[in-house]
Amino acid sequence: MSNSDELKKLAGYRACELIQDGQTVGLGTGSTATHLVNRLAERIHQENLHVQAVSTSWSTTLQCRRLGIPLLDLGEVSHLDIAIDGADEIDCARNLIKGRGAAHLLEKIVAAMADRYVIVADETKKVALLGEKFAVPLEVLPSAIGLVTSKVSALGGQVVVRMGAPGKDGPVISDSGNLIVDAKFLGIPNPPELARALESIPGMLGHGLFVAMATHVILATANGLVEF
Ligand code: A5P
Repeated sequence: MSNSDELKKLAGYRACELIQDGQTVGLGTGSTATHLVNRLAERIHQENLHVQAVSTSWSTTLQCRRLGIPLLDLGEVSHLDIAIDGADEIDCARNLIKGRGAAHLLEKIVAAMADRYVIVADETKKVALLGEKFAVPLEVLPSAIGLVTSKVSALGGQVVVRMGAPGKDGPVISDSGNLIVDAKFLGIPNPPELARALESIPGMLGHGLFVAMATHVILATANGLVEF
């Protein structure tokens, strides 16, 4: 396991300690959340923990099924005790960019249901200003791609339709059947303002700016865990 993966595992395992018997839990997507899911399966079997989970992606659903974690259908649920997920960028106010894995639409639905929304990450994800490294992923109704491209460009974003890796020619299609667009801004000084502007575009179904949603960040650093 690489150093970075060891840090992700440390953060994921620490977050898993926050889950209590009887809770309903949202499970995120990505290389950090995968450690959380592994540890949760161990706890369910070792401690006879009774939890019900909702998943944010096919990737996490298949992992849960493989490990025997009981899953509820997302559409059946409106409240979660806790949700835990990774992030691509985190600022000091716990605002986030998410969506490298194209799961941000379902991840945001899950986050909005949770009393506690805990972010797990390694130290490379902490930034002074959102947008420093990552583009903002957008999930876009295919019929709205022209409109969204034009409106986001007018907001100052450099727009690229995300293409599939080897194994899929053409664009990435999200778990909900939509296109994913990456919009690169040269720093985002006012995340709430940009979030509102993106939300006003018809056909823009979900963006990766998570403003004032996270209640707790667990950051794994070479010197140990930092929580804020
Ligand atoms: C999934 O679409 C993303 O929002 C992930 O939660 C985010 O990219 C963090 O992933 P890693 O833990 O793999 O960096």
